[in-house]
Amino acid sequence: MAMEYVTLPTGQKMPMVGFGTWQLLGDQCETCVRQALDLGYRLIDTARMYENEVEVGKAIRASGVAREEIFLTTKVFQPDNSYEGTKMSIDRSLLRLDTDYIDLFLIHEPYEEDRDMVRAMEEALEAGKIRALGISNYNKDLYARFVAECGLVPAVNQVECHVFHQQLPLKAAMGETVMQAWSPLTCGQKPVVTDPVLTKIGAKYGKTAAQIALKALVQQGIPVVPKTATFSRMQENLDLFGFTLSPQDLETIRAMDTGKTLFGWY
Ligand SMILES: NC(=O)c1ccc[n+]([C@@H]2O[C@H](COP(=O)([O-])OP(=O)(O)OC[C@H]3O[C@@H](n4cnc5c(N)ncnc54)[C@H](OP(=O)(O)O)[C@@H]3O)[C@@H](O)[C@H]2O)c1
Repeated sequence: MAMEYVTLPTGQKMPMVGFGTWQLLGDQCETCVRQALDLGYRLIDTARMYENEVEVGKAIRASGVAREEIFLTTKVFQPDNSYEGTKMSIDRSLLRLDTDYIDLFLIHEPYEEDRDMVRAMEEALEAGKIRALGISNYNKDLYARFVAECGLVPAVNQVECHVFHQQLPLKAAMGETVMQAWSPLTCGQKPVVTDPVLTKIGAKYGKTAAQIALKALVQQGIPVVPKTATFSRMQENLDLFGFTLSPQDLETIRAMDTGKTLFGWY
């Protein structure tokens, strides 16, 4: 099934649906990433903090899919929130992932030291170690501060985003920066996959509530990285492109937005 892409400010094409790997560890992670690649996923989202970069790297190698066909994201986390730490973090991620470059390297959460971290990331861009630089979990104010202080537009801001917290004001405020959704199915915080409104809408299109929840974001130009350890759900979450939600159905789903986080981390 055909994938859709969003173009980043760098000119890179990033898949609208990727595979999230948080909480996938060891052999299970390797198996799931391999299955995802076999099914046609071409974006893998990992992080130093997830402690699974080695397994992600192994799965990519074993898949036989050409490296340049895969969009690989990883992230830097504390205590590496410094110039030296970020420099080291990039090199260590490259080693663990067993690759020559990272497509998208994100500052995992807002840090006061992000200007220093950006210096290390810009050097890595120059050296071809990373291809795009981005941030994660920056709200509107922190995003504006980042752009002003660092003097650059990040390619991506990856944030909590699902039907109950669609983050459209943040998306609108970020111009060229692409807003990518983490926990697009709420990570079990709210029963989105059995939601009666989404189930009813899904019945019209022959889709599940989970597919409608993901499609509503994708159709609004928000790329998603759902995670699942279940093969049938991997297929389901990728199968979002043969239909279009009607304006009325999209309006109904927009009305589900509470504007409130389900996590409260940031
Ligand atoms: N940048 C950040 O700070 C940040 C924070 C959180 C997450 N992330 C990224 O975003 C990814 C996705 O977020 P997430 O893992 O928190 O949660 P999620 O993708 O919203 O939800 C994952 C949960 O939903 C279930 N699920 C998945 N597809 C389903 C389907 N079609 N039907 C029913 N249930 C389904 C999974 O169950 P099973 O696995 O049991 O099938 C799992 O329990 C992460 O893996 C990570 O890569 C980034």
